[in-house]
Amino acid sequence: MPKINIKISKDIFNPCYFPYLGYTAPLEIFYGGSSSGKSYFCADRCVIDMLSGGHNYLVLRKVANTVRRSVFNQIAKSIRKLKVSELFSVNKSDMVITCQNGYQILFGGMDDPEKVKSVTPAKGVITDIWVEEATEFDYEDIQQLDKRLRGKSTVRKRIILSFNPIYQTHWIYVNYFAGKWDEAKQTYKDDRLFIIKTTYKDNQFLTQDDVERLEATTDKYYRDVYLNGNWGVLGKVIFQNWRTEDLSEKAKSFSTFQNGLDFGYAADPAAPTHMHFDRKSMTLYLLDAKYCYEMTNDLLAAEIKNMVDRQVVTCDCAEPKSIQELRQHGVTAIPARKGKDSVNFGIQWLQKLQIVIHCTLKEAINEFTVYKWREDKDSNVLPEPVDRDNHIIDSIRYALENEMAMGESMDVVVETKHNPFRRR
Ligand SMILES: Nc1ncnc2c1ncn2[C@@H]1O[C@H](COP(=O)(O)OP(=O)(O)OP(=O)(O)O)[C@@H](O)[C@H]1O
Ligand SMILES: [Mg+2]
Repeated sequence: MPKINIKISKDIFNPCYFPYLGYTAPLEIFYGGSSSGKSYFCADRCVIDMLSGGHNYLVLRKVANTVRRSVFNQIAKSIRKLKVSELFSVNKSDMVITCQNGYQILFGGMDDPEKVKSVTPAKGVITDIWVEEATEFDYEDIQQLDKRLRGKSTVRKRIILSFNPIYQTHWIYVNYFAGKWDEAKQTYKDDRLFIIKTTYKDNQFLTQDDVERLEATTDKYYRDVYLNGNWGVLGKVIFQNWRTEDLSEKAKSFSTFQNGLDFGYAADPAAPTHMHFDRKSMTLYLLDAKYCYEMTNDLLAAEIKNMVDRQVVTCDCAEPKSIQELRQHGVTAIPARKGKDSVNFGIQWLQKLQIVIHCTLKEAINEFTVYKWREDKDSNVLPEPVDRDNHIIDSIRYALENEMAMGESMDVVVETKHNPFRRR
């Protein structure tokens, strides 16, 4: 096996991760608070594994178009940091990184399952799958990925999951932590599983400013999860009046629709939504909703038209220029009126409904699960939602503005051949 010998100083690693540089378990979990150095370590180790030969990595995010700005850039940065650029060729357009020994790092998104199924390295088989922000994935995704690790290799194969822990009912907790994980310890090991928990305190590379910024979080849940890296026990969640259902059949009987759009670009995505509101039963059926990352308005317009054709879309009014551009690209975009206290008013109105979310809409389900009121350090609930995990929920509020303002329904019947389920 071609081996490349280089010297790398121990000092470039956080000490908590260093013992696991040459370690392999079939399933490895790196979890904990934000800025704890998880992504850096997984990227550094990936590069070092590549140099040692025999490894082909597949690095995944749930959504393909978040790959470039996260894991791909992270690994490219790692190659430069380790001063081994001359030993790798980085193909930015195809997002393939090839080591001089012929082994490769491939990238993908789980929302493109065909690609994930078919992607193959130039030589050998996939040996390591790094699933970044793994809480975004489904359990079935991981089972699928396990099947990708078939075939002969000279190294032990593994799946690596890295993430912030979110909430305790999550499938990762249920499947890998419950009954095993001891909060008093930093690691867990058995034949098949390795877990390491880290927080910002384990990251010696943070500046004092970084630490102060992180410690400034006052909300109890977010301190628990993002600062202390604990599996969150959700405090005062805002919505409990929702459930999921396969709406594919029921949707065919709906003739009126409401559509919304929350603008966003990089870390905060744009979120178009498509729904049916039944005033008689005060039931909201969320039929389609998605996160659109890094989409210029022409691309966003194409996504929206795919979702709602030419139906009216009520958009966040904070971006009149974007609304105009969407209109130029054929979206019937109109601004929301918002108005004083519209967030809390909208939330209270939505709380009175029955909300049914189509079962495949993971991002929406996640938002409805974790959207919560702010709490101070003493767990007092404040009359203000935490301003995160709310892209789809904001979009729904815009979409339903008319419904909220009116006692009577003002639905406009829009004939459409569009079937929001055709892509699923
Ligand atoms: N080995 C390292 N060398 C230099 N800087 C590092 C290293 N590890 C971490 N850092 C610094 O710490 C920051 C946070 O690290 P990283 O992004 O890996 O944390 P994380 O645990 O993945 O956080 P999150 O949960 O928010 O994704 C990085 O942006 C970088 O500035
Ligand atoms: Mg990270």
